[in-house]
Amino acid sequence: MNIPALDLEIIHQPLKAEIMAAIEEVFDTNCFILGPGVLNLEERIAAYSGAGYGIGVSSGTDALLISLMALDVGPGDEVITTDFSFFATAGVIARLGAKPVFVDINPITYNIEPAKIDAAITARTKAIIPVHLYGQCADMEPIVNIAKKHGIKIVEDAAQAIGANYRDGRRAGGIGDLGCLSFFPSKNLGGFGDGGMVVSNNEELNEKVRILRVHGSKPKYYHKIIGGNFRLDALQAAVLNVKLNYLDKWTAERQKNAAIYEVLFKKSGLPEKEGLSLPQAVYRDSDISHYHIYNQYVIRAPHRDNLQAYLKQAGISTAVYYPVPFHRQECFNYLRCKASDFPEAEAAAKETLALPIYPGLTEEQQEYIVNSIKEFY
Ligand SMILES: Cc1ncc(COP(=O)(O)O)c(C=O)c1O
Repeated sequence: MNIPALDLEIIHQPLKAEIMAAIEEVFDTNCFILGPGVLNLEERIAAYSGAGYGIGVSSGTDALLISLMALDVGPGDEVITTDFSFFATAGVIARLGAKPVFVDINPITYNIEPAKIDAAITARTKAIIPVHLYGQCADMEPIVNIAKKHGIKIVEDAAQAIGANYRDGRRAGGIGDLGCLSFFPSKNLGGFGDGGMVVSNNEELNEKVRILRVHGSKPKYYHKIIGGNFRLDALQAAVLNVKLNYLDKWTAERQKNAAIYEVLFKKSGLPEKEGLSLPQAVYRDSDISHYHIYNQYVIRAPHRDNLQAYLKQAGISTAVYYPVPFHRQECFNYLRCKASDFPEAEAAAKETLALPIYPGLTEEQQEYIVNSIKEFY
């Protein structure tokens, strides 16, 4: 049996006529840059994220970059973030000439460990970027309290977590000062190319992001600040406006698939016998719906690399997010981080494995995956 890590065809084929009609509409209007489709998407995604404002941008990476630019992050500043995320989270800090300061993760959620943030704060700390990894919110309450205490801004990296609820019902991206979403095709809401959004509840910051998105100009050709071209394409917005109608259904399917894995793994005895750990949805008991949106279903598996190779020969594609924590990236050698400060990120990089979880994955396929893992052990 061949099972891909993600099957976009099952997601897109049933929507082909609807998406093509939306693309045709853009074709007919010849309005390719910003325009009503982008505005509509901004309003809808902001509302979906529990935020007052949304600005469509060119990618999740650019959402992070423009957010830090809006906070005037630059040389001499420090920005705290997790040690364990996609490269963009840390890359944008360094690209602006600021110093990334990495903090170890919580071993259950793989998100930044709030108890370790205080020790990383200095007089130069300007912002914190918590990442809601795999689709589950970082523990925001203590992070918000630390930020308030020290007068530090929060930029949420919600690239993998659109619509994920924190324990109090607030949603990923709508909690901090600015929230960054990605519409990379593998995300729960993915476009037909790159795209992203900055959501917020702060009118002033929202306006600054809006201006930075068009080279810092307002009115056109008058530049008080230096921005760039960070616009979301009208074509991407057209596709995303269609796909957004199905997002809750897809999230529910991902949650159903996670529940099926849980039953299958429990039946297999693997967690007790082999020390395999399943993802834990830590806010599930808070009576909220989107406690985890499962952009990724990540297990912790002893002998991870051999298991991945075994599954590959069985036709099952899996992925490692991420094999190298930030403190070990060659480009960050200049920071002189000590590996001993990041034991949980080190362990996660060696042990985590993302299994297929996409909407449309069948129970039979999930059984095959769990049986193959059992065979390996
Ligand atoms: C945690 C995280 N941050 C940032 C990004 C960057 O988003 P994009 O690929 O849209 O630039 C991604 C997506 O790949 C991500 O997973």
